[in-house]
Amino acid sequence: MKKKILITTPIYYVNDKPHIGHAYTTLAADVLTRFFRTQGNEVFFLTGTDEHGAKIAEAAEKLGKTPKQICDENSKIFKSAWQNLGIKYDYFIRTTDKRHEEAVKKFVEKLKEKNAIYEKEYEGLYCTGCEKFLTEKDLVGGICPDHKTEPSKISEKNYFFKLTDYLPEVEKLIQENQLKIEPENAKKEVLGLLKQGLDDFSISRQKERVKWGIDLPFDKNQIVYVWIDALLNYYTGNGTKEFEEYWKKGEVIHLLAKDILKFHAVYWPAMLLATRRKLPDREFIHGFFTVNGQKMSKTLGNFIDPNDLVNKFGTEATRYLLLSQFPLTQDGDVKAEGFVGKYNSDLANGLGNLVARVLTLANKYEVKKDRVDKEIEKKAKEIKENYEKDTQEIRLFEALEEIWKFISFCDKYVEENKPWELAKTDKKKLEQVLSNLLYCISEIADLIAPFLPETSEKIKTQIKTGKSEILFPRLQ
Ligand code: MSP
Repeated sequence: MKKKILITTPIYYVNDKPHIGHAYTTLAADVLTRFFRTQGNEVFFLTGTDEHGAKIAEAAEKLGKTPKQICDENSKIFKSAWQNLGIKYDYFIRTTDKRHEEAVKKFVEKLKEKNAIYEKEYEGLYCTGCEKFLTEKDLVGGICPDHKTEPSKISEKNYFFKLTDYLPEVEKLIQENQLKIEPENAKKEVLGLLKQGLDDFSISRQKERVKWGIDLPFDKNQIVYVWIDALLNYYTGNGTKEFEEYWKKGEVIHLLAKDILKFHAVYWPAMLLATRRKLPDREFIHGFFTVNGQKMSKTLGNFIDPNDLVNKFGTEATRYLLLSQFPLTQDGDVKAEGFVGKYNSDLANGLGNLVARVLTLANKYEVKKDRVDKEIEKKAKEIKENYEKDTQEIRLFEALEEIWKFISFCDKYVEENKPWELAKTDKKKLEQVLSNLLYCISEIADLIAPFLPETSEKIKTQIKTGKSEILFPRLQ
């Protein structure tokens, strides 16, 4: 059945350039968008940048620039990285867009109207890296374990959202899978958090301390907390009626990693419940990866810029290399040195070599038949079914594995049937074998389309014209 599907990624902070962690989520969203479209669905793919808050203001100050300057510069850098990766989103939202800012103001007014906020004097430990208050038990030796910095003690008057009013409802919706949190361990983690109990949280910051943000409409000394502002991007979208329809009638899927699970699986649904809006349908939480055993950082020198990979391997290969590291739901370690080996084995010697081999043979010996053996058709069908199920369930790594299983099957089929010998002994069988193989590579071209769209087109053209060109040159 044809569906309307909205796929989103987190909107990324513009205090720095994108690395392969950001690319990972955005690529997964791009692949899913393309896949769901091949299944006849209408899909809207939303991504963008998170541009307000202390984190951005501090980064700008360090560079001697205004926050707006670094937002403009870095959001462009994100866009160009996505272009280099062949990522085609439908809309790129920036939280400094006027339209979004107005929507955020309306939203907080609505919270007030619904009596979902109150004023309170607050004292706490604030980590700018996380853009949130931490408790003593979040700290390791007095330091934020994620950002390796000491949080600052802050005391101020804020507006608080009555989160606790909505928690039982959020819990119920998650438990009953009306709000699906996937995979299962992420769901368990959220339910665990809810069981422990969570406090109301402040939705504003004093302007004296954080200047870079959206004015709170009913208190000019305060700005809207950056997470409220950011989460609302999913609702603002491109501001059209068409976009609204995705929320009203479609399936809404948020992709993210576990670092921001609580915001998405607890705060966000509660915010929507408080304002009587529809909730997302599905939140898919993928794993977090380290590079050479550590969290990516410029100082450690293990920061991998996706543009560098594109320069070395090309757009298509980079897409493959990133998504074929490990199952999406697992954490893992990326070894930069491993990329060349994987490129050569899976792309140059695997996919590329198979296509070249089949086309060379098909050129050398004429293939008139286009009848395919039943057993080959059966094999292709089985692979396709597994692949579709995997992709539907967002198991992109496993979907790729299915395709590569099929590639190995074809390699083996060539080895076993030895077309070059059949050319001397059995012309009829040769025709059949080659016609089977041509069918297989055209199936492969279809299957890889969401992952490697250009390669898919190239293979189809090569089959049509009979001209084979190297898809992935071997690298040293
Ligand atoms: N601005 C907030 C999100 C607001 S969404 C309403 C934010 N931005 S971020 O730039 O820090 O991006 C976090 C997201 O980037 C993760 O949830 C994940 O999607 C992606 N990743 C960042 N680093 C990653 C890895 N090392 N590994 C996998 N994904 C990573 O949080």
